[in-house]
Amino acid sequence: MSIQPSKTEEVREELRAASSIAVLTGAGISEESGIPVFRGPDGLWKQYRAEDLATPEAFARDPRLVWEWYDWRRSRIAAARPNPAHEALVLLENHCPGFALITQNVDGLHDLAGSRHVIKLHGDIWTLRCQHCGTVKSDRWVPLPEIPPRCACGGLLRPGVVWFGEALPPAAWQAAVEAAESCALFLVVGTSAVVYPAAELPMLAKHRGAKLIEINFEPTALTPLADYSFVGKAGEILPQLVS
Ligand code: OAD
Repeated sequence: MSIQPSKTEEVREELRAASSIAVLTGAGISEESGIPVFRGPDGLWKQYRAEDLATPEAFARDPRLVWEWYDWRRSRIAAARPNPAHEALVLLENHCPGFALITQNVDGLHDLAGSRHVIKLHGDIWTLRCQHCGTVKSDRWVPLPEIPPRCACGGLLRPGVVWFGEALPPAAWQAAVEAAESCALFLVVGTSAVVYPAAELPMLAKHRGAKLIEINFEPTALTPLADYSFVGKAGEILPQLVS
């Protein structure tokens, strides 16, 4: 990891002074909690095909296979704890009145860390939704006693997440756009920034005059746009910026 002390101090000052901060997180923030990311050398999409597991068509074709994969991911996530990067964002929320946390993650680790208002763009792996009656319920059983799980009405339950080809939850997207358009600082943490529309948010913020800060293990397409870019582990860098 390379982190210049002068840059750190500058960003600490920016964070302290900002009247409003929006943060976008991705799988990289949970990597140090032991949850695999999607892209990169050990990413999930190297071992699995998204089309087989994370699309409505895949679920229609083989709900058991899709659920086996989600059940495995739920078990990994259930064993994970928030790390210092999640905790640093709780601290930031407590100190900045105009704070918005937007996440692409479905793991619930921001909630577990104590973040109070999390805008979940891609849903929540701990909710299930009935394909037949539309009931949404919270469920933390791991492993699931029945695969695929069924609703009390007999309908098939699906994971309460957004799959490729599906629209984002409108209220969450609206809240994310408002936060991006109105913030003074936009912080991007642990995302490859290749999945749209989430990846539009940093650009939207920048276009409206916000300063862009990126923390990621490797450079991304966003890096050239960032006012400050920190290359390294979020769990090491974020606490230094926020302490
Ligand atoms: P990705 O897996 O695409 O990107 C994770 C990023 O985090 C990569 O650029 C890594 O280099 C970086 N990274 C890894 N470990 C890190 C660490 N300890 N600290 C900081 N950065 C680290 O994950 P997302 O961008 O979140 O959607 O992926 C976006 C969406 O694509 C996901 O929500 C998911 C996925 O397919 C769906 O399943 C619909």
